[in-house]
Amino acid sequence: MEENAKVTRLPLIGEPAPAFKAITTQGDINFPADYKGSWVILFSHPADFTPVCTSEFMTFAKLEKEFNDMNCKLVGLSVDGLYSHIAWLRTIKEKINYKGMKDMEITFPLIEDITMDVSSKYGMIQPGESNTKAVRAVFVVDPKGIIRTILYYPLSLGRNFDELVRIVQGLKAADAFDVAMPADWRPGEEVIVPTAGSCGVAKERMESKDEDVTCHDWFFCTKKLDKEKVLEALKKK
Ligand code: BEZ
Repeated sequence: MEENAKVTRLPLIGEPAPAFKAITTQGDINFPADYKGSWVILFSHPADFTPVCTSEFMTFAKLEKEFNDMNCKLVGLSVDGLYSHIAWLRTIKEKINYKGMKDMEITFPLIEDITMDVSSKYGMIQPGESNTKAVRAVFVVDPKGIIRTILYYPLSLGRNFDELVRIVQGLKAADAFDVAMPADWRPGEEVIVPTAGSCGVAKERMESKDEDVTCHDWFFCTKKLDKEKVLEALKKK
C-alpha cells in the first residue's frame, strides 16, 4: 500500500451518509441534503472508458426509470475529471450498441472526484484492489439520509442489477409493512413477521387464527403480502 493512500473508516449501515459537495455532469450537488425525501443509489466505478463500467452505465441508464418510479435517484462517481466523464458518456450514447442497448443517454449525475475526497469518505478506495481507482461500491441511502445497504464489488466483476432493484424494493416494502424479507424475496412472495419481543406474544402468534400467517416455529413466522399492495407501496416515498 502507498504511504499516502487515503483510507478512512468505512461508513456503516444505519449511519448518516457522509456529507459532501461535488461537481457532476449535471451541475453541483450537496449530498445527501439535495436528495432529502428520495432514496438514492450512490455508486462508484473504477474508470471512464473501461468496458465493465460501460456495460454498467448502460444498464443503469436502462433501469433509471424503474428506480425513479420507486422514488430512487442514481448518482455515480469515479476519480476521473468532469471532461473525461462528459467525453465517455457522449461516446456511450453515440457509439456503443451492447445487448440491445443503444443511444443510451446518461442523465443522472456523475461526480468528478479527482481529489479522491468523496471516494475516500465512502471507503471506495481499497488499496489492496487499487490505489488509483475506486472499487465498484453501492450505497443505498434512504429519504432521511441514512445508509441502508452497502455493497462492494471488485474491479473485475460487474454488478448484479436485479439485486440492486430487489434491494430498493425489499427495503421500501419492509419499511412500509413493518416486516422483514426472506432469502431471495421478490414482490408477491411471503414475508417474515418480525420476531415477537416476549414468549407470551410468540405463543399468541403461534396460535394465531390469521390464515395468512404460517409459523414454522416460535421464531419463524411468515405471511402473505399481496403483490399489488407491495407495488403500490413502492411508488410512494
Ligand atoms: C472495467 O470497467 O472494465 C475495468 C475497470 C478497471 C479495471 C478493470 C476493469
